[in-house]
Amino acid sequence: MTAPLKIAVAGLGTVGAGVLKVLAEHGALIEQRCGRRIQVTAVSARDRSKDRGVGLSHVRWFEDPVAMAAAPDVDVVVELIGGSDGPAKATVETALEQGRSVVTANKALLANHGPALAHMAEGRGLTLAFEASVAGGIPVIKALREGLAANRVTEVHGILNGTCNYILTEMRTTGREFADVLAEAQALGYAEADPSFDIDGIDAAHKLAILTSVAFGVPVDFQNVYIEGIRHVSAVDLKYAEELGYRIKLLGIARLTRNGVEQRVHPCMVPKDAPIAAVDGVFNAVVAQGDFVDRVWLVGRGAGAGPTASAVVADLVDVARGRSTPTFGVPASQLAALDPSPMEGRQGAYYVRLMVVDRPGVIAEVAAVLRDNNVSMESFLQRGRSPGEAVPVVLTTHDTNEASMQKALAQIAAQAAVLEPPRMIRIEQF
Ligand SMILES: NC(=O)c1ccc[n+]([C@@H]2O[C@H](COP(=O)([O-])OP(=O)(O)OC[C@H]3O[C@@H](n4cnc5c(N)ncnc54)[C@H](OP(=O)(O)O)[C@@H]3O)[C@@H](O)[C@H]2O)c1
Repeated sequence: MTAPLKIAVAGLGTVGAGVLKVLAEHGALIEQRCGRRIQVTAVSARDRSKDRGVGLSHVRWFEDPVAMAAAPDVDVVVELIGGSDGPAKATVETALEQGRSVVTANKALLANHGPALAHMAEGRGLTLAFEASVAGGIPVIKALREGLAANRVTEVHGILNGTCNYILTEMRTTGREFADVLAEAQALGYAEADPSFDIDGIDAAHKLAILTSVAFGVPVDFQNVYIEGIRHVSAVDLKYAEELGYRIKLLGIARLTRNGVEQRVHPCMVPKDAPIAAVDGVFNAVVAQGDFVDRVWLVGRGAGAGPTASAVVADLVDVARGRSTPTFGVPASQLAALDPSPMEGRQGAYYVRLMVVDRPGVIAEVAAVLRDNNVSMESFLQRGRSPGEAVPVVLTTHDTNEASMQKALAQIAAQAAVLEPPRMIRIEQF
């Protein structure tokens, strides 16, 4: 009989406890799939007295996850603490130094230190698996790295943060404002007490940087992801989007362009009939474009104990079976950096909402600024009239260049009749 795979789990929070639950409930099924048992031999968390809802009487408890990573009787270290540095990084590095493979759900760690950790793992013939780090339960890393291995992938985009998608969906369907829906999401446990990583787009950017690496064979380059969150999206924007035939989604988009690799996370207007527009609530979606396969769609739950643990355990099954691929699809030593394509080079259409004084000539002044910057207007909306008062005005443009649009917006903002900073949302046609 093959010896069990002995695992040590660092972090027993939402995901860690979820992993122990899956292993306990599906022990027999997983054993069949692995050809051997997965045995939890050690765990580590901060508070030993906390009830985790899973039996821990037969496992060794470690106060220090780094000491656990170096302890005997461990084949694989499962890192579920979180954070780009600190104990998570030290645990992973120690595990690899000690010759143990690592399974992690930690996107912040991978986004910031992925290439160095991949070098460490591959140099020692070990696995560094991270399926759960992107889009929770959706097996997107495996799909890109293995399922689409025959293709040159030229684009990946998706809804990579369930909290933002939930907030935008609620705002659209109830007409409520951002702050109100965010507070409710926090009360329901869909958003963290400090929600900035989610709503400012950083979490989605971590995931996008990882996807970019796996899709294009480039080193993870989080520093060059353009990031804009959803704080400035207002209920009125969602209303106008609907009227114009769009939905607003926070998307991560990675593309191979003539200028290099484009990586950006920001709110987008997408046509209402685009499949991604229908992905609502806490669901995530990832769309990949390969040269032979064409377009591939993956949709599912991007977070939560069950979906995330499902991805962690799938990685463990691979390790138990001895199935191994280079961390990011090609060996870490062969990941070839490409130039980052600057955001100013983005080509596309734009939605702009202005709050202006309702007096003759204001719209002509705005139109003149757009014309002077080679931005061509496609549509223009002004609801109602209130002479001398502030009124919202919405316009959309034909395809133009980001640099021109930014210059035009700065000039429009400086006009006396424009009362608030213009709100701009990029339009993406998929
Ligand atoms: N939650 C999700 O849906 C989800 C989805 C995808 C990926 N992830 C990723 O999965 C990882 C874990 O997330 P989570 O939501 O499970 O976090 P969590 O609920 O906050 O759990 C973190 C765990 O780490 C433990 N911990 C913290 N510092 C420690 C230290 N110095 N030594 C030992 N243990 C320590 C905590 O111990 P105590 O319990 O004793 O405080 C806790 O058990 C993160 O990288 C996250 O980004 C999470």
